[in-house]
Amino acid sequence: VRHNASLLLSGIVIDRDSEVPLAVQLYDELRQAIVSGQLRRGARIPSTRALAADLEISRNTVAAAYDYLLGEGYIQSRSGAGSVVSSALPEDHLSSDPGDALSDGTNDNHLALRGVVLAEGADHVSPYEPPRPFVVGTPDVSEFPFDVWSRLLLKHWRSPLMRMVCSVDAAGYLKLREAITHYVGAARGLRCTPERVFVVSGSRQGLDMAVRLLVDRNDEVLMEDPGYPGARSAFEGAGARLYPLDIDEEGARVPDGRVKAKMAFLTPSHQYPLGMTMSLERRKKWLAWAESNSAWIIEDDFDSEFRYAGRPEPAMQGLDQSGRVIYLGTFSKTLLPSLRLGFVVLPECLVQPFRRARAVIDGFPPILEQAVLAEFIHDGHFGRHVRRMRMLYDERRLTLETEFAREMQGIIALDPCDTGIHVVGWLADGITEQDTIKAAAASGFHLRGLQPCRIRPAQRQGLLLGFAAAQPEELRRSVRILAPAMRRLESN
Ligand SMILES: Cc1ncc(COP(=O)(O)O)c(C=O)c1O
Repeated sequence: VRHNASLLLSGIVIDRDSEVPLAVQLYDELRQAIVSGQLRRGARIPSTRALAADLEISRNTVAAAYDYLLGEGYIQSRSGAGSVVSSALPEDHLSSDPGDALSDGTNDNHLALRGVVLAEGADHVSPYEPPRPFVVGTPDVSEFPFDVWSRLLLKHWRSPLMRMVCSVDAAGYLKLREAITHYVGAARGLRCTPERVFVVSGSRQGLDMAVRLLVDRNDEVLMEDPGYPGARSAFEGAGARLYPLDIDEEGARVPDGRVKAKMAFLTPSHQYPLGMTMSLERRKKWLAWAESNSAWIIEDDFDSEFRYAGRPEPAMQGLDQSGRVIYLGTFSKTLLPSLRLGFVVLPECLVQPFRRARAVIDGFPPILEQAVLAEFIHDGHFGRHVRRMRMLYDERRLTLETEFAREMQGIIALDPCDTGIHVVGWLADGITEQDTIKAAAASGFHLRGLQPCRIRPAQRQGLLLGFAAAQPEELRRSVRILAPAMRRLESN
């Protein structure tokens, strides 16, 4: 069955003899179809494969045209559902009465294009779910030393130092920045001073600020594919053009010299979601790329504290000689997601712009929790908690591996996992993520597929399986409940 939009697009004319590149011609044709209303807002557009076949051109060409349209906000990608025409078009902002252009009711709030894209991004960014077997990204919050934390909270609340409550620094509480500097230097090999640490409300705020300050509309941004959907939405919200990076066993591949970009978003310690650690050689290549392109690297070091084998690979930031790396750290996985505490380690030249921009954005971060965390780290509670959780998580990781090897053989094959709090499970040929998620839900489990992390469609089907947020016994029981439902998929 031909897709509706394909029929509508049957008028597309591509001139192979033209000087104008095919991708640009296709972009112009599609944009025209969208602006003229021939392709309505919200209408699905054909997959790159279908359109490439229709027009007898390469899929890369179609993908490039779609990337331009995406970057400019004419289309939006929906995980699992391909791409659709945006509900608000860039042209809406040129109209004298924006209400006219949006009167089809698809954008009742009259959001700016950025607002539409950011609000839609919420579909792809999974919230922190309560601890349960297989939940992704949530640490075991029940093991948090609440007694120590509440003692420190009370202490600081009862005797607020006047200096602390009156003199607030846009970059965050100095004692916390000092404690973070010490910690990331010792544990993650960063080269850092307290002046370069910038406390944020979770690493997502750090990313949002970096994008706001450094990425303009239509700037090219490189992103791992598959990669972290939260980053993708932040870049799309800024109107950036995403260039997907291939990933091999050494991590994200450096594109050839022709690709010029403003920024690359990377997870070198623990590729999100696939889990490999970037090799030293590859890190050096990326740093050379950043230097020669005067580009930024965002290093998202989200759960590297949990490494179960070998020595932790130091962060890329520690190797950076030319000040091109912006390092994102978070306490969401090591402590509690609900603390909303993370930090950015900035290159020298970005310290002042970040401080000044914050005066406009949110002033400064809440002070009380920062004071508590500073003392929590300083007194050794943080180090102890991370070491303890690493041991607990290691046991859970091994439990999951053993149970899957026994119960899921031939259906789901786990990748080796030596870092973080989730593992990737690959589905046997013929079993889809969608069917697996549906079958698991019927047994009471919420599973997550790789699909939302993908920028380009891919054949290989897989799941993200969290192991941190349940005791070994519960994990064992859960795998045994899940297994029969999975076996039924195999026989279908
Ligand atoms: C790869 C990655 N980066 C960043 C984050 C965001 O963490 P935060 O809670 O610090 O905003 C997450 C959250 O799950 C993540 O998976």
